[in-house]
Amino acid sequence: MVTTTEPKQQVKIGPTKLLINNEWVDSVSDRRFATINPSTGDMICEVAEADAADVDKAVQAARHAFKSGEWRNMSATRRGELLYRLADLIEQNIDELARLETLDNGKPLQDSLGDLGLVIACYRYYAGWADKVQGKTIPINGPYFCYTRHEPVGVVGQIIPWNFPLLMQAWKLAPALATGNTVVMKTAEQTPLSALRVGELIIEAGFPPGVVNLLSGYGPTAGAAIAHHRDIDKVAFTGSTEVGHLIMEAAAKSNLKRVTLELGGKSPNIVFADADMDAAIAGSHEALFFNQGQCCCAGSRLFVEEKCYDEFVARTVEKARQRIVGDPFDSATDQGPQVDQEQFNKVMSYIESGMREGAQMLCGGQQVGDKGYFIAPTVFADVRDDMKIAQEEIFGPVMSIIKFKDINEVIERANNTMYGLAAAVWTQDVTKVHAIANNLRAGTVWVNCYDVFDAAAPFGGFKQSGIGRELGEYGLQQYTEVKTVTIKL
Ligand code: NAI
Ligand code: MG
Repeated sequence: MVTTTEPKQQVKIGPTKLLINNEWVDSVSDRRFATINPSTGDMICEVAEADAADVDKAVQAARHAFKSGEWRNMSATRRGELLYRLADLIEQNIDELARLETLDNGKPLQDSLGDLGLVIACYRYYAGWADKVQGKTIPINGPYFCYTRHEPVGVVGQIIPWNFPLLMQAWKLAPALATGNTVVMKTAEQTPLSALRVGELIIEAGFPPGVVNLLSGYGPTAGAAIAHHRDIDKVAFTGSTEVGHLIMEAAAKSNLKRVTLELGGKSPNIVFADADMDAAIAGSHEALFFNQGQCCCAGSRLFVEEKCYDEFVARTVEKARQRIVGDPFDSATDQGPQVDQEQFNKVMSYIESGMREGAQMLCGGQQVGDKGYFIAPTVFADVRDDMKIAQEEIFGPVMSIIKFKDINEVIERANNTMYGLAAAVWTQDVTKVHAIANNLRAGTVWVNCYDVFDAAAPFGGFKQSGIGRELGEYGLQQYTEVKTVTIKL
């Protein structure tokens, strides 16, 4: 592990107010909160802090935009054009947005640029869908003509996390807008800045007032106000499983708003001895360490077959030691800081728990440098299924390697979790591929690859990893209501 110290590049800060009805406004309370640079722990700037009163204002704007005029009567083709225009504007400002993302989140600049590639593709993908959302004609019994319409759900509340701020904004906004909904979005308190800059581009693209409203603020205040709001028709949430439970409870208690949840994971990544070992080692490294380990689908239970275990562990530790941790603006950097002090503390406490419970720590385990939230890439071997580090979502650069003997045993153990977001297998044996793909209870299974994302491929969780799917055609269905129309002939 090496640290680097290239000077920070200049970053242009965009808007810091709330976006309601295409206007930048202060919060009703006039309160602001600090957003922190995770590389230094210093404040970047303050942004307006939304609370329940601001959620009310934003919902009113979104409801008005949904009911009346421009948005409702706009042709689907034109809605698609607006999304294409937004994608173009993001592309034209890609460097500025990437730098803002890196400053606020801490992810390496190269990774921010990678995210932005997916962001642009997501807006374009759903732009293409806008005029292809259609119902069916159904041959029912009797003298009737029966057809379905796929109508927008209405006013949609969207609550997003900090690990992929721009990408989570795109995954939520693009399908909602393509299908004609209006949106009240709350970004994560750790990373409000890049989404607000996209807000400027949304106005520039020509979206009518009230269609997209962006609020910065905290979960228990602004977030909870969205989840409980009686005039919001659907809430889409990405974040912790713990808060997912609260969102669903709030939806049930308020107005039975529709709920889609994309929650945590403890995804099994299974390496068989017959795998292409170079690919399996490189892929398993990225599966865990990518984005500072802050991925809902991180391959955080790494099951390695006994026959190749020693070689795999030795080479994996070597690779982790070479990972470059440091200034996320330096192009040599592989890994930046964790997003904030809270996440840093949480990850460090899992490292302590791994040592206490008797896992073998082979590298890392400590903070890097003396400011910011950098953690050395950490590898634990000889991890047992019942250890906390094998059960709970760590969300940091901490790898847990677990030994297994045969395929039936590993399927059983891999499924033995409350989560079911993703899974992966590394093998050259097509029989094993199908056994794993068919029997793992997970929303995504990657074979001889990891973290392959595409706007067209659905993503979401089994079990307590979530409800519903995002991306692809499946993602669209979560943003429409089906209306059945029956006409007597
Ligand atoms: P969180 O679930 O508390 O936050 C995610 C979003 O939900 C943020 O916008 C937050 O403001 C909002 N929120 C928080 N409490 C809320 C409430 N009561 N009502 C409505 N909205 C609320 O996650 P947090 O605290 O940032 O991280 C805790 C852990 O959650 C992480 O260590 C990680 O394990 C997991 N996580 C998983 C993510 C994923 O991609 N599935 C993303 C972020 C965190
Ligand atoms: Mg939280």
